[in-house]
Amino acid sequence: MESPSDAPASAPSGTTPGLMGPATILPRCATGIEGLDNILEGGIPRGNMVLVAGSVGTGKTTLSLEFLVRGAERGERSLFISVTEASSKLIQNLSTFEFFRRDLIEQGSLVFVDLPVIYDRLGLGEEELTGEEIDILIRTIRDLVRSLGAQRLVLDSLTSVCYRIRKDEQIRDFMLRLGQELNELGCTSLLVSEIGPNPARYSLHGVEEAIVDGVILLWNTRRFGDILRVVQIVKMRGTSHSRAQYVLELTPIGILMAPHLKGGREGGP
Ligand SMILES: Nc1ncnc2c1ncn2[C@@H]1O[C@H](COP(=O)(O)OP(=O)(O)O)[C@@H](O)[C@H]1O
Ligand SMILES: [Mg+2]
Repeated sequence: MESPSDAPASAPSGTTPGLMGPATILPRCATGIEGLDNILEGGIPRGNMVLVAGSVGTGKTTLSLEFLVRGAERGERSLFISVTEASSKLIQNLSTFEFFRRDLIEQGSLVFVDLPVIYDRLGLGEEELTGEEIDILIRTIRDLVRSLGAQRLVLDSLTSVCYRIRKDEQIRDFMLRLGQELNELGCTSLLVSEIGPNPARYSLHGVEEAIVDGVILLWNTRRFGDILRVVQIVKMRGTSHSRAQYVLELTPIGILMAPHLKGGREGGP
């Protein structure tokens, strides 16, 4: 039987291995969104799977797309898997932002894939996915990421995928396996989670948020009649980070963030 003590017997007296010495900084995947990178000590720890949760219009898709565009600009192959919106329409919307570069798509650094097309090709029906079909889905996403050498992935949205995986234990298994596959491939991922305006949790089933490495929460709030977008990092494994609220602005040059001054605040997430 193993010793219950954490310290190996050979540890020199007066030292506690693991508790002393400089902390290790894990390699980062810079989001390219300056405000986020500043509060994340340079970016999301590489290989993390992160939930981007918020209600409609809070900027989830825009934030995720900027993360990919900035990655592609740095030479990291970036993959967007679209579930609800046709990617052609997304690209059309994206082209109203100055930070978007169509050439990134033309040169293959930024790749869009429509999940319904994949479902069709795999012969997966409209209904709840069986255990075997969930396996196929995980393998398909893994193979896509692997064959493209994608270092960044966005799934927009995880909620739409989870509508078809209805049992909590199957969601848990799907998330754990997907997270593991992506982490092994060194791929950092954002999974979009659509939630209501006053959510009790950050995801459809509540299971998802426990498994992911991070949760970035977005919400709308009213101040003096205006609707502001607010962002907060609720959780991020592998780094220390601010948990303060920041006002998020979607501007033509990309997302800008500023500390949220709470005077006159009327609402929360
Ligand atoms: N070119 C643009 N410049 C600034 N804001 C934009 C632009 N295009 C869209 N938006 C804003 O983005 C919002 C949509 O955000 P989106 O990222 O799609 O939200 P979500 O995915 O959370 O529903 C729109 O309601 C609009 O306010
Ligand atoms: Mg969206």
